[in-house]
Amino acid sequence: MSHIDNKTREYFNNNTFEYGTKKLKYVFSFIKNNLNSSSNIIDIGSILEKIKNECNVFDLYAMDIAQSYLELAVNKINCKKISGSILDDTIVDKIPERFDCALLSEVLHHLVGKTRNESFNLAEKAIKNALNLLKPGGFLIIHEISFEPKITGDIIFYSKRFFSSFTKNRLDLFVKGFNPGEPVVSFLSYSQLKKIINSAENVDIIDENIEKNNFHPIFRLIAAQKKYRTTFVIKKI
Ligand SMILES: C[S@@+](CC[C@H](N)C(=O)[O-])C[C@H]1O[C@@H](n2cnc3c(N)ncnc32)[C@H](O)[C@@H]1O
Repeated sequence: MSHIDNKTREYFNNNTFEYGTKKLKYVFSFIKNNLNSSSNIIDIGSILEKIKNECNVFDLYAMDIAQSYLELAVNKINCKKISGSILDDTIVDKIPERFDCALLSEVLHHLVGKTRNESFNLAEKAIKNALNLLKPGGFLIIHEISFEPKITGDIIFYSKRFFSSFTKNRLDLFVKGFNPGEPVVSFLSYSQLKKIINSAENVDIIDENIEKNNFHPIFRLIAAQKKYRTTFVIKKI
């Protein structure tokens, strides 16, 4: 399987949003307290502007499969851009720098294979590659939305796969966040995410921040019991 998912890339090139950063309050406070102006950060699936403005870190790299997001990042702040996929096994050789910090915010659920198991394996590979980009002592920060139980993610994945075979567009229906159209996403459950992180080699999980989100009752119809915003901070030994 190619490391670039053309459908996901096309979706993001055509839907280039400026995402809110309220969700990253904990991430920014960690960066402020643990990194400084000489640290370098690679933001995989980029949202750099706020890191620069709020955290006083200047050596910033944006990595993305979507050219439009890279251009947005470069136009707004003076960062370096890396066009590529975190699923590319040769990425570690292609990028000579090693980083004090890598940020993977809301990217893992966009790594989709043909099945949920394949998608789980892609998330595992992305985390492994991101860790390989770090200096010893560097931090990988993962920020993700995850649902419990796992079946919620299964239903979202397969229903979006079904609806997106009819349209290339988002289908924003009824309530904010309920979009059964493109892009297909594969949300890990909290336990799956934790399992991948626990199985990573030569790392310490040094922090975990969980916010339980309230969500619209319509999501209960798709078996969702809990939705979390989780941030893991993992230190490479
Ligand atoms: C939902 S956006 C998240 C943006 C931002 N990180 C945030 O937290 O708001 C997902 C981003 O991941 C990028 N992306 C998807 N697959 C990727 C991959 N394999 N490698 C690198 N970036 C990827 C998309 O192009 C998009 O910019």
